[in-house]
Amino acid sequence: MPNLFRLLCACTAGQSEHSIDSKMAKARLVYLLTLLSTHCYFSVLAVVLRTDNNSPWTDEFDRIELSCLIDSISTNNPRIEWKKIKAEGPSYVYFNKKVSGDLENRAVIREPATLVITNATRLDTAKYRCEVTAADDLKSFDEIVIDLVVRVKPVVPKCNVPKSVPFGKSAELSCLEDEGFPKSQYQWFKNKEEIPDDPKSSMKFFNSSYTLNSETGILKFTSVRKEDAGEYHCRAKNDAGYAECAPQKMEVYDIDVVGIVLGVVVVVVVLICISAGICCAYKRGYFASQKQAGNNYKVPAKGDGVDYVRTEDEGDFRHKSSFVI
Ligand SMILES: *[C@@H]1O[C@H](CO)[C@@H](O)[C@H](O)[C@H]1NC(C)=O
Ligand SMILES: *[C@@H]1O[C@H](CO)[C@@H](O)[C@H](O)[C@H]1NC(C)=O
Repeated sequence: MPNLFRLLCACTAGQSEHSIDSKMAKARLVYLLTLLSTHCYFSVLAVVLRTDNNSPWTDEFDRIELSCLIDSISTNNPRIEWKKIKAEGPSYVYFNKKVSGDLENRAVIREPATLVITNATRLDTAKYRCEVTAADDLKSFDEIVIDLVVRVKPVVPKCNVPKSVPFGKSAELSCLEDEGFPKSQYQWFKNKEEIPDDPKSSMKFFNSSYTLNSETGILKFTSVRKEDAGEYHCRAKNDAGYAECAPQKMEVYDIDVVGIVLGVVVVVVVLICISAGICCAYKRGYFASQKQAGNNYKVPAKGDGVDYVRTEDEGDFRHKSSFVI
């Protein structure tokens, strides 16, 4: 300990002897004097805080203690305050002997200065500062910062599995969940069996072309095989728990090259037949004669193919067309 502190210790110890007269205080003084050589600075002059745990965690809706212990203090009624440190700046959660702000009705103070949150929520995840002001101590202020994490279980992830994929093509399966804290990691299962991160690590998946990203939840096949067909589901998990989506079927179908070629050939043959048929019909004059018939109908005045027939009733004409074929 620096010499200056020893000097201060000696001075203050001397002062205290004159000013304090209660029995208890004297007893305390004796105790302090025995500690003088090693602990004088902390014991006599200062308020000193300590915590059991400066990074506690709990699950949402559970109880958690932010421990703030006073290792040394000489002041009888120190001022105790807790602040929550947010991005916008600190806000009071314990002030003037009252829990207020975000923790109102959800927290209590336990002696000496520990803050007990009875029903933590996800919004409580933050840094908290315990501040103790001890007016009668030479070092009259101390603070400690406690980093609280409230874990949130993942909710059921949104899973996207393509229903059917052509053989040899790529396919992407995705899984996403936003509520979990800390952020969820993802696992994929095929027919209820976990898919390993690296296909080469398993006999079953050895020849599969997938890559699996447990951070993003994306399972990507560069070229699907028949064996990749199956029921897939995903699990989102973090320290607080896990949740899974329902299995969805992915089918793999063949693009049948022979079938496609045969199909095309059939269509071409049919087209050729139809054209040949039309050609033959044209050559034999079917189309030419129809053309003529049309002309005749349009110009009945010429009378070539139209006969007007007089029926029994006078003046009542019916006409009929006779087509020259
Ligand atoms: C904690 O808070 C949640 C929501 O604010 C409430 O539903 C739940 O009942 C509370 N639990 C306890 C033990 O008070
Ligand atoms: C992977 O492919 C190779 C070569 O095509 C084959 O010999 C082997 O049996 C396959 N392994 C599995 C596990 O299917």
